[in-house]
Amino acid sequence: MILRGLPRFRAQTSWSRVASRTSRRARVGTAPVATSRWFESMCFAAGLGMAGMAGSSRLSCEDPKMRRVNVARAADFADGDLRQVRIVGTMDGAGDGAIMLAFIDGQFYATGASCSHYSAPLAEGVAAKDKMHVVCPWHNAAFDIRTGQPVRGSGLEAIPTYQVSVEDGNVIVQVPYVMDDFVAPAMSQRDPADERVFVVLGGGAAGVAAADALRQEGYKGRILLITEEKHLPYDRPVLSKNLGKAYDPASLSLRDEAYFKKHEIEVKCAARVKKLDAGQKTVHLEGEVLKYDAALVATGAKPRPLPINGFDLPGVLALRTPEDAQQIAAACQPGKKVAVLGSSFIGMELASTLRRRGCDVVVLGMEQVPFERVLGNRLGEALKAFFETKGVKFFGGKTALEIKKSGSSLQAVLQSGEVISCDSIVVGVGVIPNAKFVQGAEKAPDGSLVTDQFLKVSGVEDLFAAGDVASYPDTCGDRAGLMRVEHWDVATSQGRFAAKNMVGKQERFDQTPFFWTSLFGKNLRYVGHCKEFDELLVDGDLQKLNFVAYYCQKNEVKAVATMSRDPVAVVVGELMRMGKMPSVADLKSGKASTAGLAAQLKQSC
Ligand SMILES: Cc1cc2nc3c(=O)[nH]c(=O)nc-3n(C[C@H](O)[C@H](O)[C@H](O)COP(=O)(O)OP(=O)(O)OC[C@H]3O[C@@H](n4cnc5c(N)ncnc54)[C@H](O)[C@@H]3O)c2cc1C
Ligand code: FES
Repeated sequence: MILRGLPRFRAQTSWSRVASRTSRRARVGTAPVATSRWFESMCFAAGLGMAGMAGSSRLSCEDPKMRRVNVARAADFADGDLRQVRIVGTMDGAGDGAIMLAFIDGQFYATGASCSHYSAPLAEGVAAKDKMHVVCPWHNAAFDIRTGQPVRGSGLEAIPTYQVSVEDGNVIVQVPYVMDDFVAPAMSQRDPADERVFVVLGGGAAGVAAADALRQEGYKGRILLITEEKHLPYDRPVLSKNLGKAYDPASLSLRDEAYFKKHEIEVKCAARVKKLDAGQKTVHLEGEVLKYDAALVATGAKPRPLPINGFDLPGVLALRTPEDAQQIAAACQPGKKVAVLGSSFIGMELASTLRRRGCDVVVLGMEQVPFERVLGNRLGEALKAFFETKGVKFFGGKTALEIKKSGSSLQAVLQSGEVISCDSIVVGVGVIPNAKFVQGAEKAPDGSLVTDQFLKVSGVEDLFAAGDVASYPDTCGDRAGLMRVEHWDVATSQGRFAAKNMVGKQERFDQTPFFWTSLFGKNLRYVGHCKEFDELLVDGDLQKLNFVAYYCQKNEVKAVATMSRDPVAVVVGELMRMGKMPSVADLKSGKASTAGLAAQLKQSC
C-alpha cells in the first residue's frame, strides 16, 4: 500500500506562488499514467488528518482518463464542512492529487485542494455559504465552490471541480488520472464585431484582475491594459519580502505574454498615461490619444517623499518596483548598516528582510513602537520585542529633520539632536495615489478618485477606479464615510468588481478589507478597518505571537489582527461582511468567543 507521508503544500512563504504555478500535469508529464488493473488496484484515497482513511476505489468508470474514488462516508459531514482528501496514484507519484470536499445545504461539492495564489490548503479556510464561496485561510482569496472560478482576491487561476455523488452512504468523486492543481478560468473570446474599447490604466493588482474579469464576464470588445512599467503585471508584495526576486521580474509575473495574446488583451508596457479627460472619454499617451467606451483607473500609488533636506541624496531609497528592490539589494549588502525610516508595514517588512540578509538594521519611527498607528501600543510593544530578539534596533518617537552625507556614509539628523550614521537609508513613510493625470473627476483631499459603492467614479460616465488610487464608501463601520486601503487583496477584488460593473452589472463592493504582512517568516493578518479604537481585547499570548486581537469601538468590533491563528481572520472578514460579528459585550461576557466564530459563521450564512 502506498501512503505518502506529507501533503505537497509548500511552507507558507510569500514568494512560493510562482513555483506553485507549475501544475501537477507539468510535473508528471502528460503521458497517460498506468491504467492497468495493477494501477486501478493501487488507487485509493487517504485523508490528510482531517478526513481520515477513505476506503478503496476499485470502482468502474466509463471515461478511460477518469477514475471513480470512494473518498468519505457521507454521514461524517456536517453542514458547511470543508475537508481535504488525498488521492494516491502509483508508486512513482504519478496520479497523486488532493481534492477539497465541501458539504453545503445537503449537497457535496469536490474541487481542487489548493488556492491558486500561494497554494494554501483551502479546506483550512471557510465556506461562505450565502455566496457559495470557499475562502482561502491565508490571504482571503475566494473561489466559487460550484464552478471553481476565482471570484475575489489574489487567486487568478481557477481551481478544478469534480463530479461527486453519494452511493450507499459513500462519497464518490470522479477525478482524472492526471490531476491539475489549477485550471484556466472560463473566458470569452474577443469578437471583432464588438467595437467597444475598454481601457485599464495600470498593470498592477487591480489592473490585471480587471482585465481577466472583463473576459470572464463575457466582454468581447477590445481591452487595452496600459502600464508605465516595463514589466508585465507582477507580484508586488514579494519585493519587500525577498529582494533577490527583483533580479528576475519574469519569475514574479502574474500573467505571461502568451496568456495576454490568447485572450486578446493588448498590453502596452512602458506607456505613461499623461492625461485622462473624463468629459471627452479620452486617454492621452505620448503621441497617441485613445477614445474609450469605459475606463478603469488602477494606477496605484507611489512612495511619499519626505519633505526634508537630503531626501534626494544617493543611498536614500524607497520601494515600489523591482528596480527599487534591486537598488536596495545592491546597496544593502550583508554587514552594511541600514537605517529604515518609518515603522509601519513596508518599513518593518524591509527591516526584517534586510536583517535576515545580514545587515545591521536600525528603525527610526515617529511612533513610540512599530505599527502603533494601526495595531496600537500593546501589539506594537510585542512586535518590537520580537524584532529586538532578531537584532533589529528600534528608536521610537524620532523625527528626521535632515539627511546629510559624511564621507561615504549618510547621517540622519533627528529632531532630538541625535545623529544616526549609516551606509543607506530606506524610507517607508506612506504613499500618494497616482491620479493627478485624471481631469474632470471628483478627488478626495489625498488626491485619490472618489467612487460610489460600485467603484464608479462619482459624477462621471463610464469611468471606474480600483485599488490604491480609489476612495470608496466604507464597507465596515462608518458607512457614510470613505476609505482608501492599500492592500493587495482589496485591489485585486476591486479590479474584479469594477470589471463586472463596466460590463453593465450592478455589484456593490462589499468586501471587508484584509491584509497580511510577513515579519521574519511570521504572518500577521488584519481584517476590518479601524481608525481609532477605545478598547483592545486580546485572546492568546502577544509575546508568543499567537493571538487574536479585537479592535473595538463603542461595543463594535471594527477590526481584528491575528498571528498563528488561521483561519480566524477570514472567518471574521465574512462575519463582518454579513454584519454578524459578535458584539464586544458578548465577547467580554463569554457569550461569544474566538473558538465559536467559525460555528457562528456556519449558522449565519
Ligand atoms: C513592497 C510592497 C510590499 C507590499 N506587501 C503587501 C502585503 O504583504 N500585503 C498586502 O496586502 N499589501 C501589500 N502591499 C500593498 C499592495 O501591493 C498594493 O496595495 C497593491 O499593489 C495595489 O494595487 P494597485 O493595482 O492599486 O496598484 P499598483 O500595484 O501600484 O499598480 C499600479 C500600476 O499603475 C502604473 N501607473 C501609475 N501611474 C501610471 C500612469 N500615469 N500611466 C500608466 N501607468 C501608471 C504603475 O506603474 C503600476 O504598475 C505591498 C506594497 C509594496 C510596495
Ligand atoms: S494562498 Fe490563498 S489567497 Fe494567498
